[in-house]
Parts: sequence; C-alpha cells; structure tokens
Amino acid sequence: MRKCDKNKGDFKVNNEIEQQYEYMKKVSEVIKNKNFKYSIYTMGCQLNENDSEKICGMLEQMGYVKTEDVSSSDIVVFNTCCVRENAEDKLFGKIGEMKRLKEEKGTIIAIGGCMMQEKHITKKIHESYPYVDILFGTHTLHKLPEDIYMLLQEKKKIDDIIDIDGEVFEGLPISRNDNIKASVTIMYGCNNFCSYCIVPYVRGRERSRKPEDILNEISKLAKSGYKEITLLGQNVNSYNGGEGYTFSNLLYDVNKIEGIERIRFVSPHPKDFTDDVICAIAKCDKVCKTIHLPLQAGSSIVLKAMNRKYTKDQYLALANKIKESIPNVVFSTDIIVGFPGETEEDFEETLDVVRKIKFEQVYMFIYSRRVGTPGDRMENQIPEEIKHKRFDRLKALVESQIAENNQKYIGTIQKVLVEGKSKNNENMLTGRTDSNKVVVFEGQDELIHRVISLKVISEHMWYLKGKLA
Ligand code: 5AD
Ligand code: SF4
Repeated sequence: MRKCDKNKGDFKVNNEIEQQYEYMKKVSEVIKNKNFKYSIYTMGCQLNENDSEKICGMLEQMGYVKTEDVSSSDIVVFNTCCVRENAEDKLFGKIGEMKRLKEEKGTIIAIGGCMMQEKHITKKIHESYPYVDILFGTHTLHKLPEDIYMLLQEKKKIDDIIDIDGEVFEGLPISRNDNIKASVTIMYGCNNFCSYCIVPYVRGRERSRKPEDILNEISKLAKSGYKEITLLGQNVNSYNGGEGYTFSNLLYDVNKIEGIERIRFVSPHPKDFTDDVICAIAKCDKVCKTIHLPLQAGSSIVLKAMNRKYTKDQYLALANKIKESIPNVVFSTDIIVGFPGETEEDFEETLDVVRKIKFEQVYMFIYSRRVGTPGDRMENQIPEEIKHKRFDRLKALVESQIAENNQKYIGTIQKVLVEGKSKNNENMLTGRTDSNKVVVFEGQDELIHRVISLKVISEHMWYLKGKLA
C-alpha cells in the first residue's frame, strides 16, 4: 500500500518524499548566498539518465547551480552503471581525479546508482578512496537531500545503501536535459534474471508506477511543450498498472494526450511481446513504428544458457508477426558477443538473424563477466581475443547493412521532429525520423521543435539529407 497524503505540484507525495522536501529546504538555508555549484557524471542507460534528471532536480531545488566545470563545483555526483565492466574502470579513474579537488576545495563527492549496490565496489571505495563523502544506492536516490544535509551539519561520511526494493516514489523535482523529448520511467527493476545480467541484483524486482501518475506526468510535459515521450523500464511490456491495466492500455492512453506527437519505448522483452501490444502499436498513430527487440544471441543453445526464454525460431516468428501487423515497421536490437560456451556455429546463428532482420540499429556488446551472475560462474568462458574477433565480424556485417537500409529511404517522405541547428553546419537544421534516423536539411529556424514532412534526397551512412516536401 502506498501512503499518499500530501500534494507536491500535481503529484501526490508520500511522507518520505515530504521529509526530503524539508531537507531540501534546510540545505538551501545552509548554502544560501554562497553561489554553490554542482556537476554530475552519468554512466549507463536511459533509466540512469532519467534518475540523473531527478538528482539534478533535487540539487537545483536545494540551490545548487549546474556547471560543466568540475573544478568549480562544490558537489560532484556520479551516477554509476554496472552492466558492463568498462564502466568500473572509468569510474575509478574519475574518482581518482577527484582527490586533488577534495584537498584544494573541500568539494563534496557523492556516488550513487547501480554500482553502489555491489559490495565489492563499495568495499574498494572505502579502502582506496576514503575521501568520498556519500554513497547512495538505487533504492535510496530520493534521500540525497537528507544525506547532503547530514554531511553539511554533522561532517560525517554517509553510506545510504539498502538491499530492499525501494518503493515507487512520486513527486521528486526533476530538471530535464531536453525541452522537446522527455523520458518517463514507467517501472523499476527486473524479474527476468538473464544469466549474464546484473540488473535484477542491483535494481531489485519489478515495481510499476500507477497509470494515473504516469499519465499526469506526460500531460504536464505536453503542456510545457514536449513533443516526444520515451517510456522507460527494464522490461516495459511486463508493466503492471494494477487491476488488469497493462502496457498496451498505457500506450492507448498516452496516445490520447494532446500535444504529444511521438511515443517510443525501451526496452521490451520478446517473451512478453503479446498480441495486444502489437495491436496497440499498430493502432496508435503516435507510437513510432520502430521497435527495439533485444535479440542478445541468435543461437537457441546460447539463448537457453542466457535464460532468455525464447528460441531463434520464436524470435524470427515474432518479428515476422510484427511485420505482418505493422506496415513499414523497422527493428533495432541489442546483441552480446562471446557469451560462455558460444561456438563458431552459435555465432553464425547470430549473424544469420542479423542478415534476415536487417536491423536499423544494432547495439553490440562484448560479453562482460559480472560478479554474482550465473554467467560468471560458467566454466566455458570465451577467450578475449575470440570475443573481439567475433565482435569485429558482427560490426562489419551491421555496417554493411546500413547503406542498404538507408537506400530504402531515398525518395520517401518522412515525418521529422526538428531538434535544432546541425552541429556541423550552422545553416542546416537537424531532426529525426520516426525510425530515429538523423536527417539534415535546409530550413528556417521557426521549424525547430515542429514535426514536419521532408523528402529524403540522399544517404550518408550515419545521416540522411532531406528537403522540405
Ligand atoms: N555483458 C555484455 N552486455 C551486457 N548487457 C547486459 N549485461 C551484459 C553483460 N554482462 C547488454 C544487453 C542488454 C544491454 C542493455 O546491455 O545486451 O540488453
Ligand atoms: Fe537484464 Fe534480462 Fe532484465 Fe534486461 S530483461 S535487465 S537483460 S535481466
């Protein structure tokens, strides 16, 4: 049962968030007129980006002003990711760099996010980076104002990490990165335990937000001029709004919100891609007909070892069913190369699926062992050299398909959400198609932030060129 007893803006706020608003006020009194600044480093996925927008919202409510110049910051926050190993090396490098800043300026250093839910990481921080002030986990992000206040008042280091799944908190302040496209988290956590993945261990079990809270947030975004919404969750199509309200219900309801012109969602799981979801995508005019359908591997043997709960044939059959129901649909995907036990034949199966589906975009990853996952305990790990060679082969195939995929756009009319001026050419504007392709074209500034029709005239590997239709 969620206890809702106060209103913050349009959101019902529970006691715990109300308390955090008190702490934000207290901190703002402590740092009043001091012109304090903050910087933030975000690692990882869009969910983490969205969490960081909430961290920024809380810091700004406390009176901190954002700066890109770390050396002038009074607080530096790291929002970490632990899905793959390279993020760890990056984080430790960055915290190492903070030592001088801490000594010279006394800057507060706070580290939060997924990596903080891993005991071997927090142990290493305690032992090797004793100057870090605050550690907070994925379930205690909303308590950052309290942590900062306690640190400022009592000057003691804070460890605010719990292993219990956090509640779904509503009404935290949020400072968004963009003023036309917004991400809205609809659910937290994951129940799937794919055997390579650390997420279920650090983000806990699935918890869905209430439909009315999500719809309320999106309506507010629409009123402030946002045009594109991305619904976020580790497994969006197992969204459970209660009383039989499912992900497809949510798509229909978001589709009705006036002012919103585009709806995207990441990531769905192929095993939960039910017919009602396919039908909703087909029927809702604002839902982009580009679907991220994480494959992970093409071999049914590897998929079983990964605990993905579908075979190669089931994946291909699902993609075909979606194609038959949704004209002109395109796909993007995630693929992991070099999962334990992957043979040359298994890897060929992955290439086979890539050849068959011709994905618009493939996010490719080299398998990374994660402490505590079943994949890490498997004995038949693949040597690094083989993993890298397979990765390069996959990349070459994917790149060879891009030009071919791009060709089919030439001469077509595309709906494009105009984002702004092109970074490489001040005289050109840039936007994205429904299928997320970048299109560059000549046009007046008043087109910025509008959805317009463009005719595609040429393709240039990573972008298309268009002209007003
Ligand atoms: N190694 C490599 N890639 C991984 N992913 C998740 N865990 C791992 C891992 N241990 C990839 C998956 C997932 C994406 C977000 O990250 O492809 O879909
Ligand atoms: Fe990880 Fe699988 Fe859950 Fe995605 S669905 S977060 S890959 S366990």
